[in-house]
Amino acid sequence: MTEKKAYSQAATTGKYDKSTGLLGKYDNVRKFWEDQVTGIFLRPPLSELVKRKRQRLERIRILDLGCGSGDGYDLLTGVTTKDPGIYEYITAALTPDMVREYVGVDINEDLLSQAASTYGHIPKVHFVCDDMSEGLPAAMVDEEPFDVYFTSFGTLSHFHHDQSVKLIADICKHAPDGAIFMGDWLGRYSYEWQELWHHPADKEYFMDYRISYIYPNEERDDAEVAVFPLRLVSQDEVRAMIKEAEKVSGTKIKPIIFFDRSILIGRHMDTGDYNKNCPKLRRAVNSLFESYVRTDLESLLVDYVPRPGFDHLNNFFEMLFMCSNALVKYTISVLSQYDSQNGDLHSVDDVLPFYPDPLKEAMHSMRRVIEGVGWLKWGDVRANVIEAQLGYCLRKLEMDIQPGKGMGHGLVGIFEIRK
Ligand SMILES: C[S@@+](CC[C@H](N)C(=O)[O-])C[C@H]1O[C@@H](n2cnc3c(N)ncnc32)[C@H](O)[C@@H]1O
Repeated sequence: MTEKKAYSQAATTGKYDKSTGLLGKYDNVRKFWEDQVTGIFLRPPLSELVKRKRQRLERIRILDLGCGSGDGYDLLTGVTTKDPGIYEYITAALTPDMVREYVGVDINEDLLSQAASTYGHIPKVHFVCDDMSEGLPAAMVDEEPFDVYFTSFGTLSHFHHDQSVKLIADICKHAPDGAIFMGDWLGRYSYEWQELWHHPADKEYFMDYRISYIYPNEERDDAEVAVFPLRLVSQDEVRAMIKEAEKVSGTKIKPIIFFDRSILIGRHMDTGDYNKNCPKLRRAVNSLFESYVRTDLESLLVDYVPRPGFDHLNNFFEMLFMCSNALVKYTISVLSQYDSQNGDLHSVDDVLPFYPDPLKEAMHSMRRVIEGVGWLKWGDVRANVIEAQLGYCLRKLEMDIQPGKGMGHGLVGIFEIRK
């Protein structure tokens, strides 16, 4: 009887749910691509901050604005150091013991209760329900200054230009010298929403955003999908907001880096809601990262459809997709030429000298990976090692080629506040 109760309890709490990285909010792309890419770009300023605070015998205070389910805590403490070496096992740039406090603010009580149930047991983690639409909430202004003012996954796209300027200016007034501010918006020119490219660049534009991707394909058409406005921005629009915030706050906001995140694998690639020509790349890349699942590598190939009248955007996407296609085709070719019985590679396509360096590097890496491990007999080395590495190579290609101008699902700016 008690046994039955125990199993039923496990089932109803969701702890027995079959977990897979192929779908959902925390799919493989979110874990192994989006969170990691954000972390890699954050690594230099975060490591520098940690070093500086360590020298002063101080720890780090983090404010996560629009924290939702509180995942910023894991993202920030998951940022790795550069080249930890293969022997080390502690690879975090910001280990949890160096965090003095993490405060998450959000307007949504449901998300905050999810955040509290996941992270509430950590004594230094706190969540506050408040509205940021008129600037930094008063309860936060009364807090001690933070070292990191963090937003993630499009949070700042909820706000108009003037609201964002006020929020950023409030952050700058509140922050100490040397604090990091990370702003995260939706990019204006993602291929996912090619149908929206024509909206005038000099006027702020909010798209009708559908979270349709949480439904599996077969349920999507019948699902009642909520729609809400989210602002699409270019790097120029972010720079304009930063300039105004500098003026209002009387501080200097130094851009450290802008980057486009999720050009290849934004969530709306697979829904086709705003561009029916998008290939379902997120699904394919989720499969690359999933253990014991082999992927049809041809499903990663993109047949780019240009939009007439947008030459500079078409040229960029044409080049990026030609590079990713070349990498995928090269990988297919090396796999087809590799003899896993005796570990020989019969022949290999040329890596042409005029290819962009990031593509050449990715091709060489895939060849070395396949030759290095292709002979292994235990575990499914193709599904578990080679395909995952192709996922990382595609990720690296996107990171190296993106211009940080608003070409991806996300446009992120990392800044240092100087006083
Ligand atoms: C795109 S989600 C990002 C959530 C979280 N940072 C993540 O990475 O999963 C945007 C978040 O901003 C919050 N938000 C929107 N408008 C807000 C407001 N006026 N004040 C505070 N939070 C707000 C939403 O509730 C939501 O949790």
